[in-house]
Amino acid sequence: NITTQHLLPLRKTKPRLLSRTIIIKILVVSLAMAFSPGTLVVFSLFLLLLPLLSVFAQTNGSVPVGASLSALHLNSSSSWLSPSGDFAFGFRHLQNDLFLLSIWFNKIPDKTIVWHANEGRPVTRGSRVNLTANGGLILTDPQGQELWRSDLISGVVVSGNMSDDGNFALQGSNSDRLWQSFEIPTDTMLPTQTMVRGGVLYSRQSATNYSKGRFRLSLGQDGNLELYTVNLPTDNPNSYYYQSDTAASDSNSSVSPGSRLVFNQSGAIYVLRENGDRKVLKEQGGGEDNYLRATLDYDGIFTLYSHPKAGNSGGTWTTLWSVPGDICQDLLVDSGLGICGYNSICTLKEDRRPTCHCPTGYSLLDPSDIYGDCKPDFPQGCAEDQLSNSISEDLYKVEVLINTDWPLSDYTMLKPFTAEKCNQTCLQDCMCAVAIFRDGTCWKKKIPLANGRVDTSLNSQAFIKVRKDNSTDHLVPPNNPQKKEKDNDNLIVIGSVLFGSSVFINFVLLAAIFVGFFFIYRRKLKTTPRKTVQVNLSCFTYKELEEATNGFEEELGRGAFGIVYKGFLQIGSGIGLAVAVKKLNYVVEDTEREFKNEVNIIGQTHHKNLVRLLGYCDEGQHRLLVYEYLSNGTLAKYLFGEIKPAWNQRVEIAYGVARGLLYLHEECSSQIIHCDIKPQNILLDEKNMARISDFGLSKLLKMDQSHTHTAIRGTKGYVAPEWFRNMPITAKVDVYGFGVVLLEIICCRKSVESENQSGEEKGILTDWAYDCYQEGALDMLVNCDEHIENKKKLKAFVMVALWCIQENPNLRPTMKKVVQMLEGVVEVLDPPCPFPYSISTTIPSQKIQSYEV
Ligand SMILES: *[C@@H]1O[C@H](CO)[C@@H](O)[C@H](O)[C@H]1NC(C)=O
Ligand SMILES: *[C@@H]1O[C@H](CO)[C@@H](O)[C@H](O)[C@H]1NC(C)=O
Ligand SMILES: *[C@@H]1O[C@H](CO)[C@@H](O)[C@H](O)[C@H]1NC(C)=O
Ligand SMILES: *[C@@H]1O[C@H](CO)[C@@H](O)[C@H](O)[C@H]1NC(C)=O
Repeated sequence: NITTQHLLPLRKTKPRLLSRTIIIKILVVSLAMAFSPGTLVVFSLFLLLLPLLSVFAQTNGSVPVGASLSALHLNSSSSWLSPSGDFAFGFRHLQNDLFLLSIWFNKIPDKTIVWHANEGRPVTRGSRVNLTANGGLILTDPQGQELWRSDLISGVVVSGNMSDDGNFALQGSNSDRLWQSFEIPTDTMLPTQTMVRGGVLYSRQSATNYSKGRFRLSLGQDGNLELYTVNLPTDNPNSYYYQSDTAASDSNSSVSPGSRLVFNQSGAIYVLRENGDRKVLKEQGGGEDNYLRATLDYDGIFTLYSHPKAGNSGGTWTTLWSVPGDICQDLLVDSGLGICGYNSICTLKEDRRPTCHCPTGYSLLDPSDIYGDCKPDFPQGCAEDQLSNSISEDLYKVEVLINTDWPLSDYTMLKPFTAEKCNQTCLQDCMCAVAIFRDGTCWKKKIPLANGRVDTSLNSQAFIKVRKDNSTDHLVPPNNPQKKEKDNDNLIVIGSVLFGSSVFINFVLLAAIFVGFFFIYRRKLKTTPRKTVQVNLSCFTYKELEEATNGFEEELGRGAFGIVYKGFLQIGSGIGLAVAVKKLNYVVEDTEREFKNEVNIIGQTHHKNLVRLLGYCDEGQHRLLVYEYLSNGTLAKYLFGEIKPAWNQRVEIAYGVARGLLYLHEECSSQIIHCDIKPQNILLDEKNMARISDFGLSKLLKMDQSHTHTAIRGTKGYVAPEWFRNMPITAKVDVYGFGVVLLEIICCRKSVESENQSGEEKGILTDWAYDCYQEGALDMLVNCDEHIENKKKLKAFVMVALWCIQENPNLRPTMKKVVQMLEGVVEVLDPPCPFPYSISTTIPSQKIQSYEV
């Protein structure tokens, strides 16, 4: 019963599947009847005739109009065979429920596909292809939607024909060919197939993805055969990496241009010139007993393969010939990719096929695509380098690669130069990813590196920068900061700090403190060896600090934790380093060890938006902290002073505060909740960059963050509602405080105006801000008589602030999200009313007092 096999291919071996097919057909018929009784007769006649027609098809490869195939069976799909059975046209199962309408070698085990329809897009199970008189082949999805059809030369199709050379053709009434697969090749040519000028072969995306890849083989209108890449998703070609040298020549008219590319019966590949001469690219050969195919592979190599015909006995495709000779060298694209992805390196294997690998410290972006891009496994770039506050020699080590180059990606050429200088200049340049040194010339290159390859003729050295510790802990937030905080409560011992999760942070901190602080005090340390704690914070005596502050003479400010005095520490021969000395007035009875541990944790936080702790004093009742001195005072003074700062400066300050808090919450080794974010605790350095101070003190002074303790931390107007409610205190209290400060920054207005101020009708800032926002009167908020160009940013800032001051802490965003929203990386949604519980004000001041002890 072989005759019906192409229509119902599994009858003999898979009776169950067959019956299912029949049931489907019966269902289709009954449906058709239900809707249109008139068509029933035609339809059932067609069904009855189909097996008979297939008999016909089987014998000579011919397929009548009206025949169809459906994509149903997973293992072996329905197909129309050529007379010898060498080739089949039909649905090939790919994976899952996907099928590809294609032509394949049907007698060899791997059933290699040589042509495909529908631009290589697979179709789902239940799709059909019909051979129609007017449209030729029509591919439809299970719902009957047309997906693809053969573009006919005008005429009416009489039959289709799958021939033994692998060509599927549609014939018109007088046997002329209205359409044939040989004329619209995909990635493969077969013996007897030719390509005329303008013809193209397209590589596929990958071994399993048949969509158009980026390589092309084309016989140009000038008669030249070229291999080139295009910049997907466009068809825009780059310059060729192989050419047959058969172009028409302007200067020499005796040169006959190529007219077609021929792959002849005996396996020769040549360009036939207009005058009948041949430019032979590959001599004949391959033999009668082999199948041949010439395929533009997805690695860009045009390859002639042979496969023994003695089908099932095994055998594989072997390469007889290929171009270009060395694709790693030949494919050099000035505006796009070589054979390998960005940052990758191409090497030619023995079989002249390219392989790609990532340099040390880099790995594949998509591990399943070796031709894809490589990404550094470590943070690299000027912003990242700056963040880690350390010198580049400490951050990076240099790997040397011999004879490796990424031509064309350089941004600087230095000459004359030495190898050592070349290495150094790259190491110290945060933009430099790799430097190539050759013949006294140094090229600095930045990411992404393109066209990477190994070339033994180069005699060059590549110095590639690799982060010493590729951990990105300090750049990405921990998954669960809250959990982390709890862990840290139990783990506040120096060991956990020094040998904890991020060796890198410790390294950077130690390096930074060592370089900065130790250097400054080097001479002094030589004479009077100072008792230091584990992170090289200086431990001062009370007397030293008393002298430094001239007997605590100049008071800089007063806060909840104590009074701050200005001081000068003598370094060497009389240069004074200005410091701020904070005398803590809240002395708790605890062991010396705990105090030092807390101080150490504070000492380890290093961020450009935090005030740095330089040292401390711990002598019985005298506990003092020594900070760097910031000349421009507090944000409160800046915002609420006579002259209001410009909007752009205020925006920068908001960014700074947000980033500083983000660091405290998510990026330093143990989470720090500030608990008292307000403009008085934010200082400005000489560049007016915001620096948060007083962080870590609430814990240091045993301001318990649980409700067992009586004191409520924080300051009126900035205190999150959960302090008064029976709710856990989390980092979200700082988000609340930040929200209030952000509103103050936007409006240049205090959160709570002092009561004796006359004519004040704005009330509590947070309420007023929400009202203005709801009314769309954002201009009213900006108190500073200033025209703000960027209204969108203003609105975004107000919205972020309103999210931050939500009474429900769960609604407040994390600081990470806040930073992203402020920077415009993440869209800000409409905030809900921040105070759904209390009608009038957020935090009545009496209420605060009633909770305070
Ligand atoms: C398909 O082939 C696999 C093995 O290749 C076999 O296990 C499975 O039973 C086959 N399924 C059908 C429906 O024939
Ligand atoms: C093939 O690759 C293209 C482009 O990358 C992609 O759009 C398409 O989904 C892929 N097809 C399959 C079947 O994976
Ligand atoms: C194929 O082309 C080669 C090279 O020109 C030639 O030697 C050979 O005779 C051709 N074979 C056929 C069957 O035309
Ligand atoms: C860091 O680099 C080493 C080798 O260089 C690698 O084994 C490790 O997986 C990398 N770690 C990360 C987090 O990328």
